[in-house]
Amino acid sequence: MTLTEIRTKYLAFFKAKGHAIIDPAPLVLENDPTTLFTSSGMQPLVPFLLGETHPAGKRLVDSQPSIRVQDIEEVGDNRHTTFFEMLGNWSLGDYFKEEQLGFVFEFLTAELGLPKDKLYFSIFEGNEEVPRDETSYNRWIELGVSKDHIYEYGVKKNWWSRSGTPEQMPVGEIGGPDSEIFYDFGTGLNLHEQSEWKNQECHPNCDCGRFMEIGNSVFIQYKKNESGKLEELPNKNVDFGGGLERMAAAVNNNPDVFELELFKDLIAEVEIYVGKKYEEDKASFRVIVDHIRAATFLAKAGVVPSNKGQGYVMRRLIRRAILKARKLKDTQIEPNIFTTLISELVKKYEVYFNSSDTTQLQSVIHDEVTKFHKTLENGNKEVEKIDTIDGKIAFDLYQTYGFPLELSVEIFQEKGQKIDIEEFKKAFEEHQNKSRTASAGVFKGGLVDHSEETTRLHTATHLLHTGLRKVLGDHVQQKGSNITHERLRFDFIHHAKVTDQEISKVESLVNEQIDKNLPVGFEMMSLDEARSKGALAFFDQKYGEQVKVYTIGDPNGEWFSKEVCGGPHVTKLSDLGGHVKITREEASGSNVRRIYATIV
Ligand code: ALA
Repeated sequence: MTLTEIRTKYLAFFKAKGHAIIDPAPLVLENDPTTLFTSSGMQPLVPFLLGETHPAGKRLVDSQPSIRVQDIEEVGDNRHTTFFEMLGNWSLGDYFKEEQLGFVFEFLTAELGLPKDKLYFSIFEGNEEVPRDETSYNRWIELGVSKDHIYEYGVKKNWWSRSGTPEQMPVGEIGGPDSEIFYDFGTGLNLHEQSEWKNQECHPNCDCGRFMEIGNSVFIQYKKNESGKLEELPNKNVDFGGGLERMAAAVNNNPDVFELELFKDLIAEVEIYVGKKYEEDKASFRVIVDHIRAATFLAKAGVVPSNKGQGYVMRRLIRRAILKARKLKDTQIEPNIFTTLISELVKKYEVYFNSSDTTQLQSVIHDEVTKFHKTLENGNKEVEKIDTIDGKIAFDLYQTYGFPLELSVEIFQEKGQKIDIEEFKKAFEEHQNKSRTASAGVFKGGLVDHSEETTRLHTATHLLHTGLRKVLGDHVQQKGSNITHERLRFDFIHHAKVTDQEISKVESLVNEQIDKNLPVGFEMMSLDEARSKGALAFFDQKYGEQVKVYTIGDPNGEWFSKEVCGGPHVTKLSDLGGHVKITREEASGSNVRRIYATIV
């Protein structure tokens, strides 16, 4: 079965069980400053898991393109990838454990045809706060699973939240116990015997690769409260996530995801280009195809390689792929293999790309290849000038020119010099610790801990949208929005600089509404009805049949703002805790202006 076939089967199966198929979220989420990328199917659904009403209903299903940057160093083994598709289904306070486990069991065994005796299951063993998951245990038995295929683990393995264990969850974060499903590739491949864990007993969570996790049903039922305790959410939710590629590997009964049809074809292209076989250096081939796939999806999401944020990750992916291609080809010449890989990817992922995207995607990635080529040249020249190279200089070269250590080592060896790798590593670690501290907020992955601040700024964004339209005219339309803990940023269509006078007018108008303490609420209706009632709905995303319309003011009487929006928002304007102040105004593309604002 191909990835496309499994994806289609999964969506159809859950649709038949009453789930609405929702569009996946973009890889880079607007209004979520806490993570760089969408990294799980549930991430865009957090407000709904917290209790907001989802316009498409209480049963949802999708396939979510995701990126997990923390896995970048792991790529090279048979199963880690930075980009992956997560098949997900959700119950927002509808069905719970018993139905969920029945659904997923039926899908894996009846639809994908996985033999029951190749499947293993885990449940939460319980702790002081949350009891052992008897319901899941009993349900697996009822479904015909034998006792020796069910394992019990503690919070490290069978608790899921975006931040990790209950202890690691910040205030406001949601999570719960989970039940994972593993596929057993058997003992025939001697994976355990050949691994560093060979002297320990093998079990589903062993890292030797014999078992592969193919799905996880999380019972999102708790939220961390202000006093650090787990508090029951209004709804008992189900959040299921299963790696599409991993399911395909199980169907293939082959633990190497890079031998799936998708990757096989890409690897064949690389083999031709470098004149070597996959078997000769599997790790390098895997890095190239994984990283270029991720970079292609990032290019499609509008990301451009740069020195910070998402752009930095993209740069790292492309540069790592270049280095591996150079290593395989055993030469200093420029790898142009990526162009071919990108065309192949566009064809293979026709649900996500149009063939007309190809040239643009190739050019974004090719620009970075050219830049890195220059970096390497400059670095080389510097190296030529230096007589004695210690680890610290190697690190400076790395930092200044992006000159990779492996290349430094290679060149110094040619010059007969030895490089102190330990010294390099020390400098590198210090640098990493510094940048980790600086970017902790970005990488933390906790959306909810900022929810109060961002919720307030989100409501302020609606106020400004209307305020700008009233002052500048109805041609003003939202083009983009980005909210951090401290400020909102709002892009909108307008042909000229917004003058200081206009800015004061917008601020006064908005703050007048805040002083009136208008209520904020939402109603569900069809998109047509929303438009006929005057609600703003500019994004060309496909809405479900029913949409949420947020009104600031009286929805059936006098209102200030009405917008189609998923939420969340404050419930009354006094909750904003102050007035809105526009702190900056600037251009952001032709006929698009950008403002920054805070609440003071
Ligand atoms: N959100 C869960 C996960 O990512 C399903 O594993």
